[in-house]
Amino acid sequence: MSPTIIQSAYLVAAILFILGLRNLSSPKTAVRGNQLAATGMLIAIVATMVDQSIISYTTILAGMVVGAAIGAVLALRIEMTAMPQMVALLNGFGGAASALVASAELLGAGETGASLEGIVPFAIAASVLIGSVTLTGSLVAFAKLQELVGGAAVTYPGQQFVNGALGLAVLGLAGMVMMDPGNLNAFYGVIAIALLLGVLLVIPIGGADMPVVISLLNSYSGLAACATGFVLDNSTLVVSGSLVGASGLILTQIMCVAMNRSLGNVLFGAFGAASEEGAAAAAGQDQGNVVAYTPDDAAVIFSNASSVIVVPGYGMAVAQAQHAVRELTDSLADAGIDVKFAIHPVAGRMPGHMNVLLAEADVPYDRLVEMDDINPLFPETDVALVLGANDVVNPSAREEKGSPIYGMPILNVDQAEHVFVIKRSMNPGFAGIQNPLFFKDNTMMIFGDAKKVVISLSEAVRNY
Ligand code: TAP
Repeated sequence: MSPTIIQSAYLVAAILFILGLRNLSSPKTAVRGNQLAATGMLIAIVATMVDQSIISYTTILAGMVVGAAIGAVLALRIEMTAMPQMVALLNGFGGAASALVASAELLGAGETGASLEGIVPFAIAASVLIGSVTLTGSLVAFAKLQELVGGAAVTYPGQQFVNGALGLAVLGLAGMVMMDPGNLNAFYGVIAIALLLGVLLVIPIGGADMPVVISLLNSYSGLAACATGFVLDNSTLVVSGSLVGASGLILTQIMCVAMNRSLGNVLFGAFGAASEEGAAAAAGQDQGNVVAYTPDDAAVIFSNASSVIVVPGYGMAVAQAQHAVRELTDSLADAGIDVKFAIHPVAGRMPGHMNVLLAEADVPYDRLVEMDDINPLFPETDVALVLGANDVVNPSAREEKGSPIYGMPILNVDQAEHVFVIKRSMNPGFAGIQNPLFFKDNTMMIFGDAKKVVISLSEAVRNY
């Protein structure tokens, strides 16, 4: 096949990846974005299969069949709430694949006596180092989120020093591999220390901070793939790896800003450890009286409202209440009530968590409003319905300087005329702190599982 045709195919694939990403930035075009990117990947794979010197098509086909079967079963069976750990595993395998391909190039050159020139030794060292850190870091993230190990941050005295020393050692060994790719002791040293570093860098991070770490590891897996692209002189791998690296980094930054935390604080702040201690104390704090309503009581206020804003959070995901809430909001809208959904950028446990759930339940996109656009509307809204959300509506972030979440942007639901909060108990959310919203005069709690309460509320509104 002519190199011009292959390079043109790679160019088309790269353009489709970029268009795919562009379309993924809005829920309306996300499905098309996925299709464009998948088509790009198909073109890239076909072009690679006809271009490179394939040793055995049978082995490749067998790998594709087994891999596709495992992927399809996982994709069908995985619960939406388990998606972060699924992504963690995929990142880890991506990092491992890049490191293995780069290792094969180095070891193969050693056997055939071929010399590795130019940027290749540098790219091999980078791919093996980053890919190995990504593999074990992602496996630890997976184990924490899947609760195979404790989710709390693991810290010990001198931890930063140990990690720093190992970091310097692995960089030194990687430098030796770059200068002399035949130095296999240095090469195996890079792999061993990088695998260890992946574990040590992720254990001090609290389980609940994992989505940020997974996004960062996703970025690393892209960088490893990009480095492997230079090893293989494959332009489409360089482009797709860079796109994953850059988008993972941007997403990490967006999450940190939305939580008002620096990346350094997420990586080295051991937030899980601190917040678990604070949680018990905070939960026990007496902040005043709480008013509890039944769905029947609430239906009276809902039926007399002219505007309702629903604020979904992690509890909606746990209860899988998205379909019930779609039905409730449809009947409110049918009764002439203006209904909107307020979307906080870090509501739930993964980026876009609420958008995905509400899209699954066919909630019209034009009812979803981002935080900055909806906040000015709360003071003129009759009812704010907080559905399994906690931290993202906690006024301490605005008012209490000493609060761990002080400065985090929140949805100002307390400014609505009436606030209903649906949750099971007075337990805190992710940050482990009590929420003064629950004790405000205009707040009414409806205790129970989000799905069950919303179904009862729907019935009560219909029968009112
Ligand atoms: P949270 O603050 O975690 O609160 C969720 C609330 O849902 C809990 O207080 C819980 O109270 C309630 N809940 C759980 N299961 C429920 C059920 N079956 N029915 C009804 N309620 C239920 O959630 P949020 O407001 O969405 O905030 C997200 C938090 O996660 C933020 O602190 C954010 O920084 C953090 N975080 C987010 C991300 C991303 S990317 N989204 C990543 C990392 C961290 P009960 O137990 O009393 O029911």
